[in-house]
Amino acid sequence: MRRVVQISDLHFGNNDPLLLAPLRKAIEQIGPDVLVISGDFVEHASEGEFIAARDFIRTLPVPQILVPGNHDLPFYNLVSRATVGLSLYKKFITTDLLPRFEDDEICIFGANTSRVWPIRGGSLSSMQLEQLAAEFAAVPEDRVRLLVTHHPFDLPESQGHRLIVGHAKRSINRLAPLVDILLAGHIHLSSTGSTATHYKTAGHAMTFVQAGTAVSNRDKGETNSFNSLLLKGSEEGGKSLIVDRWTWRKDATEFYCKCATEYRLESEGWTRAERKEPVPADAEVHVEPGVTKS
Ligand SMILES: [Fe+2]
Ligand SMILES: [Fe+2]
Repeated sequence: MRRVVQISDLHFGNNDPLLLAPLRKAIEQIGPDVLVISGDFVEHASEGEFIAARDFIRTLPVPQILVPGNHDLPFYNLVSRATVGLSLYKKFITTDLLPRFEDDEICIFGANTSRVWPIRGGSLSSMQLEQLAAEFAAVPEDRVRLLVTHHPFDLPESQGHRLIVGHAKRSINRLAPLVDILLAGHIHLSSTGSTATHYKTAGHAMTFVQAGTAVSNRDKGETNSFNSLLLKGSEEGGKSLIVDRWTWRKDATEFYCKCATEYRLESEGWTRAERKEPVPADAEVHVEPGVTKS
């Protein structure tokens, strides 16, 4: 059993500083085996913003899997975006654009989907895709295998398919037999779901997990939140995943576990399961499969 916390879209430079200490406290309370940060560390990619982001993530638990977002390149200046690119991200956050964590239960890879153009969209190149496929193919199947990107490969119907990463169908077809769970951010709306809704990959549906924005002011109508994942491998009665969504509660100045969703690996791939354990009395239920009520 492994616990992975996913935070995303911190947007230092356009964030609420009052949320930082409670976020750190909540993560420490959960005590993850791995911390994932799925991009958009900063707002405009200035040096000061990156220093603030670096100083904060240095206070969080390790190991960490970090991937850049589209805001981690100079955002509005296309010339700087092309010439400076990810150099400040590499200087202050990490030089590793293919981060990896592996133990005897889980394997997590991160990949960079952010590009100079389009400034909001993203893509995964053929070379990246083949490298990831080769890396995942070498991982024993009994491990839970996760891929982290900033841009999502899939989203609930209500959030619009135009926001997904470019060439998503190609990537889904290639990765579905090799990957269990896709983690992403970018949309600033949390959700979970099965890729079987939009992609026909018989026997190999993956679960996608979207994180909201943890501390930024760019809330898109949803309260700040992050995800905590409980992962079980094949030897524990079959692979399973429970996603807890932790949401900011302003009146109590704390993050709390608002709702949870469970998925299991069945013969047709990952499918949503009914939770066996009771959900807390103040938790909100999902209004439709794979879409969390906010
Ligand atoms: Fe973002
Ligand atoms: Fe983004």
